[in-house]
Amino acid sequence: MPIIAKERLLKLLHEVPENYYELVNFFLDADISIADKNIKSKTFLQREIDKLNIENLQFPQLNQLRAWLEQENKSTREEYQNYLVMRKQGGKRQYFSNLGQAFEFLTKVAPLKQVDGAWLYSTVNYWNNTDLHDLILIYLEELGTGKATANHVCLYHHLLKNLGLDEWNLYLEDEYYQQAAIQLALGYAPPEFLPEIMGYNLEYEQLPLHLLITNFELAELGVDASYFNLHITIDNQDNGHAHRSIKMVEKFATKYQDKDNFYHKLKQGYALNQLGVGSVQIIRELNLDYFVHKILKKKAITGSLIHNNRCVFNHKTVNQWLSSPEQVELFIAYLVESEWIKFGTDPEESRFWKLIHSESGRMFGVFNLAERQIIYDWIRGEFPSRFRISHTHPIPYLHDTDRFTLDYLAQLEHEKLQSVIHHSPDISDKMNQLIPYLAPHLHHQKMGLWSTHVYTQLLFPYVLQP
Ligand SMILES: [Fe+2]
Ligand SMILES: [Fe+2]
Repeated sequence: MPIIAKERLLKLLHEVPENYYELVNFFLDADISIADKNIKSKTFLQREIDKLNIENLQFPQLNQLRAWLEQENKSTREEYQNYLVMRKQGGKRQYFSNLGQAFEFLTKVAPLKQVDGAWLYSTVNYWNNTDLHDLILIYLEELGTGKATANHVCLYHHLLKNLGLDEWNLYLEDEYYQQAAIQLALGYAPPEFLPEIMGYNLEYEQLPLHLLITNFELAELGVDASYFNLHITIDNQDNGHAHRSIKMVEKFATKYQDKDNFYHKLKQGYALNQLGVGSVQIIRELNLDYFVHKILKKKAITGSLIHNNRCVFNHKTVNQWLSSPEQVELFIAYLVESEWIKFGTDPEESRFWKLIHSESGRMFGVFNLAERQIIYDWIRGEFPSRFRISHTHPIPYLHDTDRFTLDYLAQLEHEKLQSVIHHSPDISDKMNQLIPYLAPHLHHQKMGLWSTHVYTQLLFPYVLQP
């Protein structure tokens, strides 16, 4: 390992960085041991718990929990019906006025979606405790029980890749990584955090109104909403994740000696969901103007110094305009002022759009289709859309691409694991071999999917389709 990388690792091991992005990378780093991740998760979670405002949290007594959540679920469904009526009567979309905004949303929730299910990772260690099986099964279902086409992380990667949004991490501030860091820390938390994990799970698995509306509006805009739709069906309160999350709390509450302590910890876990920037806040604060500026500033980093000095706008060369984020802001203002960008009109009338979109344009190829869609919607505003990105060749799922990829070392490791599992004398030995591959950074890879399938087969053979 290079010395610089080693120094970074050592630094991360000894302190909890303020930066959530670094923490997410710490938990997803294959070179850091599970034991070190366990230690870090404890310190980090304590720091986040200290930020909570538990006094103002709406949370019922345990004997009223089920009725309270059922009532919440009913109000959500009623509000959704009101939304549908409003739309049927000609009302406008409430969340995404255009595709560009939908892309901005999909990008901003990506850090969390890339670790979907992670808060439950530690539960797979308790496979011989049947009281925790409902929780483990939720985790395995988040992992698609080993099928790439049902693994939530694979599904989201697939969605972004198909839309050309897979470079989302270039455009995000640190605050969008806070919930992802919390989920990963819960996934590596020691056993005393089980009540917090159950509390977190309880909130996360309930049906929120924003999920229903997001699913509806994305589909309406022609985006494949199956990731969101899946969470409406699989998390249902009748027999899905929401139901099982309540069942687990009810069951565990009777087993804890110190009932008050369990209740307090459960509430803390529930409240952890409120930290950071959630979907509702992201939707409320969608700002295509700011987002496009970010994209243009990012492009300017590679674009500066590659133009020749004959390209001059208003006495400055393009290289000078692109030399710093402040200059890029001024450049955008100049392009608007000089009508290279005409807001609220057909983008075809804007020279800047033609420059980046027309095949003969000088900047054709600088922006991919998704970025062009975002810029198109930014320019046109309320002007009717005539442009819609289309991908004629959908990207195949992981398990399909695997057939064409030759990774000799991975193949060897996979064969070794298969042989070890096959020859293992007992189930606990097999489980110990499999569990590391069910970790958040691995379960969506080829060996992770295989290990998830075998783990599920050993513990819950009845859930696998023949
Ligand atoms: Fe999920
Ligand atoms: Fe779920």
